[in-house]
Amino acid sequence: MNDLAPVTDTAAPAAKTLPTETVTAVRHWSEHLFSFRVTRPRSLRFRSGEFVMIGLTGDNGRPLLRAYSIASPAWDEELEFYSIKVQDGPLTSRLQHIQPGDEIILKPKAVGTLVLDALLPGKRLWLFATGTGIAPFASLIRDPETYERYDEVILTHTTREVAALAYGEELVASVAEDPLVGEFAAGKLRYYPTTTRETSPVMGRITDHLRSGEVFERLGIPAINPATDRGMVCGSLAFNKDIMEILDGFGLREGANSEPAEYVVEKAFVG
Ligand SMILES: Cc1cc2nc3c(=O)[nH]c(=O)nc-3n(C[C@H](O)[C@H](O)[C@H](O)COP(=O)(O)OP(=O)(O)OC[C@H]3O[C@@H](n4cnc5c(N)ncnc54)[C@H](O)[C@@H]3O)c2cc1C
Ligand SMILES: NC(=O)c1ccc[n+]([C@@H]2O[C@H](COP(=O)([O-])OP(=O)(O)OC[C@H]3O[C@@H](n4cnc5c(N)ncnc54)[C@H](OP(=O)(O)O)[C@@H]3O)[C@@H](O)[C@H]2O)c1
Repeated sequence: MNDLAPVTDTAAPAAKTLPTETVTAVRHWSEHLFSFRVTRPRSLRFRSGEFVMIGLTGDNGRPLLRAYSIASPAWDEELEFYSIKVQDGPLTSRLQHIQPGDEIILKPKAVGTLVLDALLPGKRLWLFATGTGIAPFASLIRDPETYERYDEVILTHTTREVAALAYGEELVASVAEDPLVGEFAAGKLRYYPTTTRETSPVMGRITDHLRSGEVFERLGIPAINPATDRGMVCGSLAFNKDIMEILDGFGLREGANSEPAEYVVEKAFVG
């Protein structure tokens, strides 16, 4: 993630001074996952893939803020978020109970490394996600610019359980039917979901599929090559580390906003 960006904001001013937005929709995908939409502040400009700080007022009256990837594309008039429910998590133990009409705190400043500008031009874009790490990619695969820049966009999503794939499955299906993005994405967006702890059509960690070459075989494409392939990575620290090692092995280099290269990485959470 961007080293300059705060992940938690404990020294923030009293919550009443922070801007709020109104919840417009909430959807629960499983016992552990939900998504929600909020009104978008007029002042918020962002690039698809970036994150903002959102939260609620804590019991002590202080704001309780966490980093959240914006899951909706830059053109959407509302903002969408996709969230974990951590049983004893300070924020999500409460955030999971929000309802349409409720207010949440949202700081209208977006940052992040998972942006198209941080990559050198290429032909094939790989989006590697585990768990809620799919959120920034939910934004990018709904952005026409992604398809203007790449001939092929491959979204891989690895989760423990089948239920945790549902958000991504529905998202990919919706892109095809979307009046704005569908035409751009047609024949370009490919989806490679895998599960590790429950049976599904393709089982196992994406890292193992990359090392064995199974993913290239199943998709009918050549192995990752620095001349053509670009990558974005969003998962746990261990996942990011393993994927980076694999991408380095294929000859790709990590890039940043200030110095574009062949792949970029951001943590889906801290811990
Ligand atoms: C750049 C960035 C972007 C993020 N974007 C999202 C997002 O789009 N959606 C989202 O749900 N979370 C996201 N997070 C994580 C988020 O900031 C919070 O950690 C999460 O909402 C839980 O908050 P909490 O206060 O309930 O628990 P915390 O005290 O923040 O976390 C408690 C523990 O739960 C685990 N955990 C926290 N978040 C996750 C997660 N997302 N997936 C798996 N395990 C987790 C970790 O082990 C952590 O130590 C992001 C984090 C970063 C750094
Ligand atoms: N049923 C439950 O109780 C349940 C279900 C979901 C989440 N949770 C809670 O939510 C938290 C986050 O869970 P999560 O499932 O979203 O995140 P996660 O533990 O990071 O796992 C998400 C997916 O990433 C894979 N993965 C993890 N490390 C990897 C690596 N180094 N390389 C390749 N793949 C890797 C996992 O495979 P592996 O399975 O092989 O590790 C899993 O398929 C957990 O700490 C847990 O407490 C609980």
